[in-house]
Amino acid sequence: DASDIEKGTYPHYMLKEIDEQPLVMRKIIQNYQDGEGALEIDSDIVAAMKEADRIYIIAAGTSYHAGLVGKQFIEKLAKIPVEVHISSEFGYNMPLLSEKPLFVFISQSGETADSRQVLVQVKEMGYKALTITNVAGSTLSREADYTLLLHAGPEIAVASTKAYTAQLAVLAILAEVTARGIGHEVDFDLVQELGIVATAMEALCDDKEEFESIAREYLTVTRNAFFIGRGIDFYVGLEGALKLKEISYIQAEGFAGGELKHGTIALIEEGTPVIALATQGFVNLSIRGNVKEVVARGANPCIISMSGLETDEDRFVIPEVHSLLTPLISVIPMQLISYYAALHRDCDVDKPRNLAKSVTVE
Ligand code: G6P
Repeated sequence: DASDIEKGTYPHYMLKEIDEQPLVMRKIIQNYQDGEGALEIDSDIVAAMKEADRIYIIAAGTSYHAGLVGKQFIEKLAKIPVEVHISSEFGYNMPLLSEKPLFVFISQSGETADSRQVLVQVKEMGYKALTITNVAGSTLSREADYTLLLHAGPEIAVASTKAYTAQLAVLAILAEVTARGIGHEVDFDLVQELGIVATAMEALCDDKEEFESIAREYLTVTRNAFFIGRGIDFYVGLEGALKLKEISYIQAEGFAGGELKHGTIALIEEGTPVIALATQGFVNLSIRGNVKEVVARGANPCIISMSGLETDEDRFVIPEVHSLLTPLISVIPMQLISYYAALHRDCDVDKPRNLAKSVTVE
Protein backbone atom coordinates (compact mmCIF):
# COMPACT_ATOMS: atom_id res chain seq x y z
CA ASP A 1 0.00 0.00 0.00
CA ALA A 2 1.61 3.25 -1.21
CA SER A 3 0.15 5.27 1.67
CA ASP A 4 2.16 3.09 4.05
CA ILE A 5 5.38 4.55 2.77
CA GLU A 6 4.45 8.22 2.99
CA LYS A 7 6.03 10.20 5.79
CA GLY A 8 2.79 12.03 6.46
CA THR A 9 3.33 14.71 9.09
CA TYR A 10 6.56 13.14 10.32
CA PRO A 11 9.85 14.96 9.66
CA HIS A 12 11.63 11.64 9.18
CA TYR A 13 10.78 8.05 8.34
CA MET A 14 12.77 6.94 11.35
CA LEU A 15 10.50 8.77 13.78
CA LYS A 16 7.41 7.46 12.00
CA GLU A 17 8.73 3.92 12.13
CA ILE A 18 9.57 4.20 15.83
CA ASP A 19 5.99 5.33 16.48
CA GLU A 20 4.56 2.43 14.48
CA GLN A 21 5.98 -0.17 16.86
CA PRO A 22 2.90 -0.60 19.09
CA LEU A 23 0.75 -1.12 16.00
CA VAL A 24 3.23 -3.62 14.56
CA MET A 25 3.08 -5.59 17.83
CA ARG A 26 -0.68 -5.84 17.56
CA LYS A 27 -0.45 -6.85 13.89
CA ILE A 28 2.02 -9.59 14.73
CA ILE A 29 -0.18 -10.95 17.52
CA GLN A 30 -3.14 -11.02 15.12
CA ASN A 31 -1.20 -12.66 12.32
CA TYR A 32 0.15 -15.43 14.53
CA GLN A 33 -3.08 -16.28 16.36
CA ASP A 34 -5.30 -19.23 15.55
CA GLY A 35 -9.12 -19.20 15.70
CA GLU A 36 -9.08 -19.69 19.48
CA GLY A 37 -6.57 -16.92 20.11
CA ALA A 38 -3.60 -19.19 20.82
CA LEU A 39 -0.31 -18.47 19.10
CA GLU A 40 0.33 -20.61 16.07
CA ILE A 41 2.98 -21.10 13.41
CA ASP A 42 3.24 -23.43 10.43
CA SER A 43 3.47 -27.00 11.77
CA ASP A 44 6.35 -27.79 9.35
CA ILE A 45 8.40 -25.08 11.05
CA VAL A 46 7.60 -26.42 14.51
CA ALA A 47 8.55 -29.92 13.32
CA ALA A 48 11.88 -28.63 11.94
CA MET A 49 12.58 -26.84 15.24
CA LYS A 50 11.74 -29.98 17.25
CA GLU A 51 13.98 -32.12 15.11
CA ALA A 52 16.99 -29.84 15.43
CA ASP A 53 19.64 -30.60 18.03
CA ARG A 54 21.01 -27.06 17.62
CA ILE A 55 19.82 -23.89 15.99
CA TYR A 56 22.20 -21.60 14.12
CA ILE A 57 20.97 -18.03 13.81
CA ILE A 58 22.69 -16.17 10.98
CA ALA A 59 22.28 -12.41 10.50
CA ALA A 60 23.96 -9.03 10.05
CA GLY A 61 23.71 -5.64 11.74
CA THR A 62 20.56 -4.97 13.73
CA SER A 63 19.16 -8.37 12.75
CA TYR A 64 22.20 -9.98 14.39
CA HIS A 65 21.40 -8.10 17.58
CA ALA A 66 17.83 -9.43 17.40
CA GLY A 67 19.33 -12.90 17.02
CA LEU A 68 21.27 -12.53 20.28
CA VAL A 69 18.01 -11.88 22.13
CA GLY A 70 16.26 -14.62 20.13
CA LYS A 71 18.80 -17.14 21.44
CA GLN A 72 17.64 -16.33 24.97
CA PHE A 73 13.98 -16.83 24.01
CA ILE A 74 14.60 -20.17 22.31
CA GLU A 75 16.97 -21.55 24.94
CA LYS A 76 14.82 -20.46 27.90
CA LEU A 77 11.45 -21.53 26.48
CA ALA A 78 12.09 -24.31 23.95
CA LYS A 79 15.35 -25.48 25.60
CA ILE A 80 17.14 -26.06 22.30
CA PRO A 81 20.79 -24.86 22.19
CA VAL A 82 21.28 -21.86 19.89
CA GLU A 83 24.38 -20.28 18.36
CA VAL A 84 24.21 -16.79 16.87
CA HIS A 85 26.63 -15.87 14.10
CA ILE A 86 27.48 -12.83 12.00
CA SER A 87 26.80 -13.87 8.38
CA SER A 88 30.03 -12.54 6.90
CA GLU A 89 32.11 -14.47 9.44
CA PHE A 90 30.16 -17.72 9.32
CA GLY A 91 30.60 -18.00 5.55
CA TYR A 92 34.37 -18.08 5.76
CA ASN A 93 34.92 -19.60 9.16
CA MET A 94 32.21 -22.17 9.69
CA PRO A 95 32.16 -23.69 13.17
CA LEU A 96 31.95 -27.43 13.72
CA LEU A 97 28.25 -28.13 13.19
CA SER A 98 26.01 -30.34 15.29
CA GLU A 99 24.44 -33.47 13.82
CA LYS A 100 21.01 -32.03 13.13
CA PRO A 101 21.33 -28.28 12.71
CA LEU A 102 18.53 -25.93 11.69
CA PHE A 103 19.55 -22.60 10.19
CA VAL A 104 17.51 -19.51 10.99
CA PHE A 105 18.25 -16.43 8.88
CA ILE A 106 17.07 -13.10 10.24
CA SER A 107 16.93 -10.31 7.66
CA GLN A 108 14.64 -7.31 7.44
CA SER A 109 15.17 -6.95 3.68
CA GLY A 110 15.72 -10.61 2.87
CA GLU A 111 18.40 -9.45 0.43
CA THR A 112 21.62 -9.15 2.44
CA ALA A 113 24.38 -10.74 0.35
CA ASP A 114 26.44 -11.86 3.36
CA SER A 115 23.47 -13.82 4.70
CA ARG A 116 22.53 -15.20 1.31
CA GLN A 117 26.02 -16.56 0.83
CA VAL A 118 25.60 -18.66 3.99
CA LEU A 119 22.13 -19.79 2.94
CA VAL A 120 23.50 -21.05 -0.39
CA GLN A 121 26.30 -22.90 1.44
CA VAL A 122 24.10 -24.63 4.01
CA LYS A 123 21.49 -25.58 1.41
CA GLU A 124 24.28 -27.19 -0.62
CA MET A 125 25.24 -29.12 2.50
CA GLY A 126 21.67 -30.43 2.60
CA TYR A 127 20.44 -28.56 5.68
CA LYS A 128 17.05 -26.94 6.25
CA ALA A 129 16.67 -23.19 6.61
CA LEU A 130 14.05 -20.82 7.97
CA THR A 131 14.08 -17.13 7.05
CA ILE A 132 12.54 -14.49 9.30
CA THR A 133 12.02 -11.44 7.10
CA ASN A 134 9.90 -8.38 6.52
CA VAL A 135 9.74 -8.89 2.76
CA ALA A 136 7.59 -11.68 1.34
CA GLY A 137 9.14 -13.03 -1.85
CA SER A 138 12.62 -11.72 -1.01
CA THR A 139 15.65 -13.77 -2.03
CA LEU A 140 16.31 -15.21 1.43
CA SER A 141 12.65 -16.12 1.75
CA ARG A 142 12.43 -17.81 -1.65
CA GLU A 143 15.60 -19.80 -1.18
CA ALA A 144 14.90 -21.04 2.34
CA ASP A 145 12.60 -23.97 3.14
CA TYR A 146 10.38 -21.91 5.44
CA THR A 147 9.55 -18.24 6.06
CA LEU A 148 8.13 -16.29 8.98
CA LEU A 149 7.05 -12.77 8.12
CA LEU A 150 7.52 -9.75 10.38
CA HIS A 151 4.39 -7.85 9.28
CA ALA A 152 6.15 -4.59 10.15
CA GLY A 153 5.23 -2.76 6.93
CA PRO A 154 7.90 -1.14 4.74
CA GLU A 155 10.90 0.14 6.67
CA ILE A 156 12.45 3.07 4.81
CA ALA A 157 14.89 4.69 7.25
CA VAL A 158 18.33 3.11 6.96
CA ALA A 159 18.54 2.67 10.73
CA SER A 160 16.31 -0.27 11.58
CA THR A 161 13.78 0.24 14.38
CA LYS A 162 10.38 -1.41 13.97
CA ALA A 163 11.93 -4.39 12.16
CA TYR A 164 14.09 -5.10 15.24
CA THR A 165 11.16 -5.19 17.67
CA ALA A 166 9.12 -7.18 15.13
CA GLN A 167 11.98 -9.69 14.86
CA LEU A 168 12.01 -10.03 18.64
CA ALA A 169 8.25 -10.58 18.79
CA VAL A 170 8.33 -13.22 16.04
CA LEU A 171 11.31 -14.96 17.68
CA ALA A 172 9.43 -15.00 21.00
CA ILE A 173 6.41 -16.53 19.26
CA LEU A 174 8.61 -19.11 17.51
CA ALA A 175 10.18 -20.01 20.87
CA GLU A 176 6.84 -20.23 22.67
CA VAL A 177 5.06 -22.30 20.03
CA THR A 178 8.07 -24.63 19.74
CA ALA A 179 8.22 -25.01 23.52
CA ARG A 180 4.56 -26.03 23.65
CA GLY A 181 5.09 -28.35 20.66
CA ILE A 182 7.89 -30.11 22.52
CA GLY A 183 5.79 -30.26 25.69
CA HIS A 184 7.70 -27.74 27.82
CA GLU A 185 5.49 -25.72 30.08
CA VAL A 186 5.46 -21.97 29.35
CA ASP A 187 4.45 -20.30 32.60
CA PHE A 188 3.14 -17.05 31.11
CA ASP A 189 0.66 -15.99 28.46
CA LEU A 190 2.72 -14.57 25.58
CA VAL A 191 -0.29 -13.02 23.83
CA GLN A 192 -1.14 -11.11 26.96
CA GLU A 193 2.49 -10.15 27.62
CA LEU A 194 2.97 -8.87 24.06
CA GLY A 195 -0.18 -6.80 24.55
CA ILE A 196 1.40 -5.29 27.67
CA VAL A 197 4.54 -4.62 25.60
CA ALA A 198 2.47 -2.76 22.97
CA THR A 199 0.90 -0.54 25.64
CA ALA A 200 4.30 0.14 27.24
CA MET A 201 5.70 1.04 23.79
CA GLU A 202 2.92 3.59 23.40
CA ALA A 203 3.80 5.19 26.72
CA LEU A 204 7.45 5.49 25.67
CA CYS A 205 6.56 6.95 22.27
CA ASP A 206 4.47 9.55 24.10
CA ASP A 207 7.51 10.58 26.14
CA LYS A 208 9.61 12.01 23.30
CA GLU A 209 10.52 15.27 25.09
CA GLU A 210 12.21 13.24 27.78
CA PHE A 211 14.44 11.44 25.27
CA GLU A 212 15.14 14.66 23.42
CA SER A 213 16.34 16.17 26.69
CA ILE A 214 18.51 13.13 27.48
CA ALA A 215 20.08 13.43 24.02
CA ARG A 216 20.66 17.14 24.57
CA GLU A 217 22.15 16.62 28.01
CA TYR A 218 24.47 13.72 27.22
CA LEU A 219 25.19 13.65 23.51
CA THR A 220 25.37 17.19 22.13
CA VAL A 221 29.12 17.71 22.38
CA THR A 222 30.58 14.32 23.23
CA ARG A 223 32.79 12.42 20.80
CA ASN A 224 31.98 9.02 22.27
CA ALA A 225 29.43 7.15 24.38
CA PHE A 226 29.20 3.78 26.08
CA PHE A 227 26.25 1.49 26.59
CA ILE A 228 26.46 -1.08 29.33
CA GLY A 229 24.23 -3.86 30.57
CA ARG A 230 24.23 -7.44 31.79
CA GLY A 231 22.34 -10.39 30.33
CA ILE A 232 19.83 -9.32 27.70
CA ASP A 233 20.46 -5.67 28.62
CA PHE A 234 23.96 -6.11 27.16
CA TYR A 235 22.45 -7.09 23.79
CA VAL A 236 20.13 -4.08 23.81
CA GLY A 237 23.18 -1.95 24.62
CA LEU A 238 24.88 -3.28 21.48
CA GLU A 239 21.85 -2.25 19.45
CA GLY A 240 21.70 1.15 21.21
CA ALA A 241 25.35 1.77 20.36
CA LEU A 242 24.80 0.72 16.74
CA LYS A 243 21.81 3.08 16.38
CA LEU A 244 23.83 5.99 17.76
CA LYS A 245 26.84 5.25 15.54
CA GLU A 246 24.76 4.83 12.40
CA ILE A 247 22.93 8.11 12.50
CA SER A 248 24.81 10.54 14.79
CA TYR A 249 28.40 9.42 13.97
CA ILE A 250 29.24 9.49 17.66
CA GLN A 251 31.65 6.66 18.39
CA ALA A 252 29.56 4.39 20.57
CA GLU A 253 30.21 0.93 21.97
CA GLY A 254 28.14 -1.55 23.91
CA PHE A 255 29.83 -3.54 26.65
CA ALA A 256 28.93 -6.22 29.14
CA GLY A 257 28.93 -4.51 32.54
CA GLY A 258 31.31 -7.00 34.13
CA GLU A 259 33.81 -6.80 31.26
CA LEU A 260 34.47 -3.06 31.69
CA LYS A 261 37.20 -3.59 34.25
CA HIS A 262 39.09 -5.82 31.83
CA GLY A 263 40.17 -2.97 29.60
CA THR A 264 37.31 -0.78 28.47
CA ILE A 265 37.24 1.27 31.64
CA ALA A 266 40.52 2.84 30.47
CA LEU A 267 38.43 4.81 27.96
CA ILE A 268 36.35 6.56 30.62
CA GLU A 269 37.24 10.23 31.01
CA GLU A 270 35.68 13.19 32.76
CA GLY A 271 32.15 13.55 31.37
CA THR A 272 32.09 10.42 29.18
CA PRO A 273 28.41 9.45 28.74
CA VAL A 274 27.64 5.93 29.97
CA ILE A 275 24.12 4.74 29.30
CA ALA A 276 23.36 1.81 31.59
CA LEU A 277 20.39 -0.50 31.24
CA ALA A 278 18.93 -2.06 34.39
CA THR A 279 15.85 -4.12 33.52
CA GLN A 280 16.93 -7.48 34.96
CA GLY A 281 16.33 -8.10 38.66
CA PHE A 282 19.01 -10.78 39.03
CA VAL A 283 21.79 -8.40 37.91
CA ASN A 284 20.32 -5.13 39.16
CA LEU A 285 22.86 -4.73 41.95
CA SER A 286 25.82 -5.76 39.84
CA ILE A 287 25.07 -3.39 36.94
CA ARG A 288 24.66 -0.57 39.45
CA GLY A 289 28.07 -1.56 40.86
CA ASN A 290 29.50 -1.18 37.35
CA VAL A 291 27.94 2.29 37.10
CA LYS A 292 29.70 3.25 40.36
CA GLU A 293 33.01 2.07 38.89
CA VAL A 294 32.69 4.36 35.87
CA VAL A 295 31.35 7.28 37.90
CA ALA A 296 34.44 7.02 40.11
CA ARG A 297 36.47 7.64 36.90
CA GLY A 298 34.44 10.71 35.96
CA ALA A 299 31.71 9.23 33.72
CA ASN A 300 28.37 10.95 33.26
CA PRO A 301 25.90 8.11 33.94
CA CYS A 302 22.44 7.78 32.43
CA ILE A 303 20.68 4.84 34.06
CA ILE A 304 17.58 3.54 32.33
CA SER A 305 15.85 1.04 34.59
CA MET A 306 12.56 -0.79 34.69
CA SER A 307 9.71 -0.04 37.05
CA GLY A 308 10.12 -2.15 40.16
CA LEU A 309 13.93 -2.03 39.96
CA GLU A 310 14.43 1.74 39.99
CA THR A 311 16.42 3.88 42.40
CA ASP A 312 16.64 7.68 42.88
CA GLU A 313 19.74 7.92 40.68
CA ASP A 314 17.92 6.69 37.53
CA ARG A 315 17.42 9.06 34.61
CA PHE A 316 14.46 7.21 33.12
CA VAL A 317 12.24 4.32 34.24
CA ILE A 318 10.50 2.20 31.61
CA PRO A 319 7.16 0.51 32.36
CA GLU A 320 7.29 -3.03 33.68
CA VAL A 321 6.97 -5.88 31.20
CA HIS A 322 7.80 -9.61 31.41
CA SER A 323 11.51 -9.97 32.24
CA LEU A 324 12.22 -11.92 29.04
CA LEU A 325 10.57 -9.27 26.85
CA THR A 326 12.31 -6.15 28.19
CA PRO A 327 14.42 -5.67 25.00
CA LEU A 328 11.21 -4.88 23.09
CA ILE A 329 10.72 -1.91 25.40
CA SER A 330 14.20 -0.84 26.49
CA VAL A 331 15.33 -0.41 22.88
CA ILE A 332 12.83 2.42 22.33
CA PRO A 333 14.72 4.90 24.53
CA MET A 334 17.87 3.85 22.60
CA GLN A 335 16.16 4.56 19.27
CA LEU A 336 14.72 7.90 20.35
CA ILE A 337 17.91 9.12 22.07
CA SER A 338 19.86 8.29 18.90
CA TYR A 339 17.28 10.02 16.74
CA TYR A 340 17.46 13.25 18.73
CA ALA A 341 21.26 13.10 19.02
CA ALA A 342 21.46 12.89 15.22
CA LEU A 343 18.93 15.70 14.84
CA HIS A 344 20.80 17.99 17.25
CA ARG A 345 23.99 17.33 15.33
CA ASP A 346 22.35 18.16 12.00
CA CYS A 347 22.85 14.69 10.60
CA ASP A 348 20.79 13.19 7.80
CA VAL A 349 18.69 10.89 10.01
CA ASP A 350 17.06 8.77 7.33
CA LYS A 351 20.06 8.52 4.99
CA PRO A 352 23.26 8.43 7.00
CA ARG A 353 26.55 8.70 5.15
CA ASN A 354 28.22 5.53 3.85
CA LEU A 355 25.27 3.26 4.68
CA ALA A 356 22.69 1.47 2.57
CA LYS A 357 19.33 0.08 3.66
CA SER A 358 20.03 -3.25 2.09
CA VAL A 359 23.54 -4.39 1.25
CA THR A 360 23.37 -6.73 -1.73
CA VAL A 361 27.11 -6.94 -2.31
CA GLU A 362 29.59 -8.92 -0.23
C1 G6P B 1 22.44 -2.94 6.40
C2 G6P B 1 21.57 -1.93 7.14
C3 G6P B 1 21.40 -2.31 8.60
C4 G6P B 1 20.86 -3.73 8.69
C5 G6P B 1 21.77 -4.72 7.97
C6 G6P B 1 21.13 -6.09 7.85
O1 G6P B 1 23.77 -2.82 6.80
O2 G6P B 1 22.16 -0.64 7.04
O3 G6P B 1 20.48 -1.43 9.21
O4 G6P B 1 20.70 -4.10 10.03
O5 G6P B 1 22.00 -4.29 6.63
O6 G6P B 1 20.01 -5.97 7.03
P1 G6P B 1 18.89 -7.06 6.90
O7 G6P B 1 17.97 -6.53 5.83
O8 G6P B 1 19.57 -8.34 6.48
O9 G6P B 1 18.23 -7.19 8.21
